[in-house]
Amino acid sequence: MDLLKTVYHKFREPWGSREQAVLSTKTAVTLFCAACSLQTGSEVSELPYYGLSPPVYPSPAGNGSTNAGWASAYDHAQNLVSRMTVEEKVNITRGWPGACAGNTGEVPRLGIPSLCFADGPSGLRGQEFVSAFPAGIHVAATFDRHLMYQHGRALGSEFHGRGVNVALGPAAGPLGRVARGGRNWEGLSNDPYLAGAGMGAITRGMQDAGVIATPKHWLLNEQEFRRRWTPTTGDAISANVDDRTLHELYAFPFMDALREGAGAVMCSYQRANHSYACQNSKLMNGILKIELGFEGFVVSDWDGQMSGVASANAGLDLVMPNAGFWGDNLTQAVRNGTLSEERISDMVTRILAPWFYLRQETDYPPPAIYTNTQKHLPVDVRADHAKLIEEVGAAGTVLVKNVNNTLPLKKPKFLCVYGYDATLKASPWQNRDRYSGAYDENFGWNTFNGTLITGGGSGSNSPPYVVSPFQALQERVTKDKGILRWDFHSDNPAEPYVNADACLVFINAYASESFDRTSLTDEFSDRLVLNVASWCANTIVVIHSAGIRTVDAWITHPNITATLFAGLPGQESGHSLTSILYGDINPSGRLPYTVARSESDYGRLLNSSVSADPFPQDSFTEGLLIDYRHFDKHQITPRFEFGFGLSYTSFAYANLSASTTATTKNLLAEFPDPNIPVVQGGHPALWDIVAVARCTVTNTGPVDGAEIAQLYVSVPRAGGEDSESPVRQLRGFVKVGPLAPGQREEAVFELTRRDLSVWDVVAQQWRLRRGVYRVWVGASSRDLRVGGSVVVG
Ligand SMILES: *[C@@H]1O[C@H](CO)[C@@H](O)[C@H](O)[C@H]1NC(C)=O
Ligand SMILES: *[C@@H]1O[C@H](CO)[C@@H](O)[C@H](O)[C@H]1NC(C)=O
Ligand SMILES: *[C@@H]1O[C@H](CO)[C@@H](O)[C@H](O)[C@H]1NC(C)=O
Ligand SMILES: *[C@@H]1O[C@H](CO)[C@@H](O)[C@H](O)[C@H]1NC(C)=O
Ligand SMILES: *[C@@H]1O[C@H](CO)[C@@H](O)[C@H](O)[C@H]1NC(C)=O
Ligand SMILES: *[C@@H]1O[C@H](CO)[C@@H](O)[C@H](O)[C@H]1NC(C)=O
Ligand SMILES: *[C@@H]1O[C@H](CO)[C@@H](O)[C@H](O)[C@H]1NC(C)=O
Ligand SMILES: *[C@@H]1O[C@H](CO)[C@@H](O)[C@H](O)[C@H]1NC(C)=O
Ligand SMILES: *[C@@H]1O[C@H](CO)[C@@H](O)[C@H](O)[C@H]1NC(C)=O
Ligand SMILES: *[C@@H]1O[C@H](CO)[C@@H](O)[C@H](O)[C@H]1NC(C)=O
Repeated sequence: MDLLKTVYHKFREPWGSREQAVLSTKTAVTLFCAACSLQTGSEVSELPYYGLSPPVYPSPAGNGSTNAGWASAYDHAQNLVSRMTVEEKVNITRGWPGACAGNTGEVPRLGIPSLCFADGPSGLRGQEFVSAFPAGIHVAATFDRHLMYQHGRALGSEFHGRGVNVALGPAAGPLGRVARGGRNWEGLSNDPYLAGAGMGAITRGMQDAGVIATPKHWLLNEQEFRRRWTPTTGDAISANVDDRTLHELYAFPFMDALREGAGAVMCSYQRANHSYACQNSKLMNGILKIELGFEGFVVSDWDGQMSGVASANAGLDLVMPNAGFWGDNLTQAVRNGTLSEERISDMVTRILAPWFYLRQETDYPPPAIYTNTQKHLPVDVRADHAKLIEEVGAAGTVLVKNVNNTLPLKKPKFLCVYGYDATLKASPWQNRDRYSGAYDENFGWNTFNGTLITGGGSGSNSPPYVVSPFQALQERVTKDKGILRWDFHSDNPAEPYVNADACLVFINAYASESFDRTSLTDEFSDRLVLNVASWCANTIVVIHSAGIRTVDAWITHPNITATLFAGLPGQESGHSLTSILYGDINPSGRLPYTVARSESDYGRLLNSSVSADPFPQDSFTEGLLIDYRHFDKHQITPRFEFGFGLSYTSFAYANLSASTTATTKNLLAEFPDPNIPVVQGGHPALWDIVAVARCTVTNTGPVDGAEIAQLYVSVPRAGGEDSESPVRQLRGFVKVGPLAPGQREEAVFELTRRDLSVWDVVAQQWRLRRGVYRVWVGASSRDLRVGGSVVVG
C-alpha cells in the first residue's frame, strides 16, 4: 500500500496537459484498484469514485477589466510589479512569521509593506479590545440584508482599525451539506441564495470599511473528518461533485461575494475529484478566474498547499503561513523556466491589486496585533458595535414553539433558571488561544461549560466580555423587584419552586473546526429539559447551537410551553435574548436549516463518515437535494422546516403578482450574450433583473412585528427531463415592517437571470428554461401562502 500511495501521490495532481493527466491518474488508479480488487483497466471517466478534475490551463492573468476601480488598481500594481526582481516577486507570494496570523513578504526597496492577515468571520480573533460578533449562521437567521451589511461593515472596521489588511471571511464553504458538519455555523446557511445574500452584503460591508474580504473556503469543504492530508491518516477526502451541483449550490454564494468586489479567496484543504483544492485548476483557473472573472488573489488555507509549481499553474497566488513549497524553490523554478515569468508576475499583481483597489497604500492604520503578554496601550476598535451586536443577536433568534402566548414574559416576579448554558464558564482561561495565547471564546474543546456565543476554531472570536442570559435575566427581574432561583450544574435540579412563574432551561450544542459533531443532540441536555418539565408546567427552553439541534426528545411535552433557537449571538447574548423574551423586540428570526424529527431523516447527509480508504471519497450523489430540498423531494415531514419561525403577531399574505420585466427579447434570451465580456462575479447579464414578484403582507395580530416574506421558485421541468431539480428553492426574501396591527406593506422580490437559471453542463453556461416558473410566497419553505407563475419564452 505504501508503494501505491507513493505512486498516487506522485501522480495525483493536474499536470501540464490533459493527456498526461489521464495517463497519470490511470496509472495510480490501476495500481490502487489492483490492490483493492476493484475492476482494473476501466477508463478513468467510468470510475465514479475516481473521476478526474478537468485540467484548465494556463492560469488567466488578471486584467482589471471589471470596472474603473479595478482597472486603476491594476495599473498601479502592474507598474510596481514591472520594477521588481524575481526574488521580490516571490517574496510577496509567501508568508513569513510575524505578528499576524499571516504576513506576506515585504519589498522595502519599493515601499511595499508586509500585508497582515487575520481570522475570522465573527470577529478579530485573539485580540483585546475587539468585539465578539454573532457567527455567520446567526447573521443568516436574521434574513435581513440591511443587518448583514451593517454586520460586515462593523466587523470590517475592527480589522481596519487594527491595521489588518486582509480579513479571513466571510464563509460559505462549508455550505452545510452534512448536518453534523463541524464548521457549518461559520457560514451563512445551507441555502445558496440566503448564503449568497449574506456573502454579498457582508463582503461589501467589510470592504466599505477598508479591509480586503476573503470569502472561503473555495470549494466543497463540506466536512471536517479527514478534511486534510496528514502524515498519519493520509490523503484528504475527495468531494466528487457534478458540474451542475457545483455551480447551483456550492459556487453560487461565492458569486455574490465576487460581485461585491471581494479581493481575495481562500482555497480549501480537501480534494475535489481527486485534486487538492489549492492546486485544482478547474476550480481556480476554470471557475473562479475565467468563468467568474476573479481579479484578486487566491490564498491557500493555512498549510493547505500540497505542491510547488503545480499549485502556481493551477491558480494559487499566495501560500500561507510560511513558504510552503515556494520561497527560494519558486525563484529557481522561474529562473529555470519551469514557471513562467507571466505567471509569477500575475500572482503578485493579483495580490497587490486589491491593496490598491481598497486604497490601502495610503493612510492605512499601522498593524496593532499583539499577544496578551505584550504590554501595550489599548487599541480599542469596538466603537458602538455592541448595540449592533445586540440587535443582530435578537434578530437572529428564532421562536419555534409558543403555546398560549407564554412569551413574551409579562413582568414575571419569580423565574427559575436551569442549565450550564445560562451562565459563564468558570474560567475563560481554559480557552486560551493556541496560537496567540489571548482569550479566545470556545477554543476549549468542551461543550457543557458555559453559555455558547460562537463555535470553536479559527472561526471563533475573542469577546471583551460576555453578557450571559442569567446576567441579563437578573437585570430584568430585579428591575421588576422579582426574585430568581438557579441551578447551572445539575441535569436533575432538585426541588420545584411551586411559586415560580416560569422555568427557563438553557442548553447548547457545540461545534468546532477540525472535527464533526457526533450527534445533533445530547443526553445530558435532553435529560435536563425533561426533568425540569416533569414538574414545571411552564418550561421555556433556550438552545444556543452551532447548527442543527434536534428536539424530538421533548418538544411535544405539554409542560414545554416555549422554545427558542437562540443561535450563536455573540457578546451581547443575554441582552439579545431578554429583548425577545420580554417582547421589547418581536421575534422575526427564521431557521437557516431544517430541524428533523429524527437524525436518520437526513439520510446520508447526516454524517461525515467515509471509507477507510487511503484516498477517501465522498460522491455528492444527492446533487442539489440537500437540507429542505431533500425533505421536500422525499416527502419527509421535518420538525421545523427551513425558513420557519414564530412571531408574537400574525401576518396575512395576499395579491401575489409576478411577471417578467423583459421588454426586449434580448433580456430573456435563453443564454447570456456571449459577446459581452465576463466581469468579476460572472457574466454581467446574470445579474439583470428579469422578473419581479409582489404581494402584500398585513399584520393581522395584536402587536407590532416584522415578517420575513420568502419567495420560492420551481423551474420548468422541460418534459420530465430533470428529476434533479429541487421541488422548489428559495429565490427571494424581504423583511417587511415592523408593521403596526392592521398595517399592510408590499413586499417586492426582484429575480435576476441567475436566480431563475440552471447551469447547463453542455453549454457550460447559465440558462433560462423556457416554460412556466411556479412561484410561491410565504412564511417558510412549507408555509406557502400565495402562489403564481412567471412564463419565460
Ligand atoms: C468533477 O467531475 C464531474 C464528473 O465528471 C464534473 O462534472 C465536474 O465538473 C468535476 N469538477 C471538478 C471541480 O473537477
Ligand atoms: C522578504 O520579506 C521579508 C519579511 O518581510 C524581509 O525580511 C525581506 O527583506 C524580504 N526580501 C526581499 C528580497 O525584499
Ligand atoms: C480579462 O480577463 C477576463 C477573465 O479572465 C477575460 O474574460 C477577459 O477577456 C480579459 N480581458 C482582456 C482585455 O484581456
Ligand atoms: C523547497 O523544496 C525542498 C525540496 O522539495 C523542500 O524541502 C523545501 O521545504 C522547499 N521550500 C523552500 C522554501 O525552500
Ligand atoms: C527547476 O527548479 C525547480 C525548483 O527548484 C525544480 O523542482 C525543477 O526540477 C527545476 N527544473 C529544471 C529543469 O531544472
Ligand atoms: C391554552 O389555553 C386554552 C384556553 O385557555 C386552554 O384550554 C388550553 O388547555 C391551553 N393549552 C395549554 C397547552 O396550556
Ligand atoms: C467542563 O469542562 C471540563 C474540562 O474543561 C470537563 O472535565 C467537564 O466534564 C465539563 N463539564 C461538563 C458538564 O461536561
Ligand atoms: C407538568 O407539570 C405538572 C406540575 O405542574 C406535573 O404535575 C405534571 O406531571 C407535568 N406533566 C408531565 C407530562 O410531566
Ligand atoms: C459518523 O462519522 C464518524 C466519523 O466522523 C464515524 O466515526 C461514525 O461511525 C459515523 N456514524 C455513523 C452513524 O455513520
Ligand atoms: C388585493 O387586491 C384587491 C384588488 O386590487 C384589493 O381590493 C385588496 O384590498 C387587496 N388586498 C390586500 C390584502 O392587499
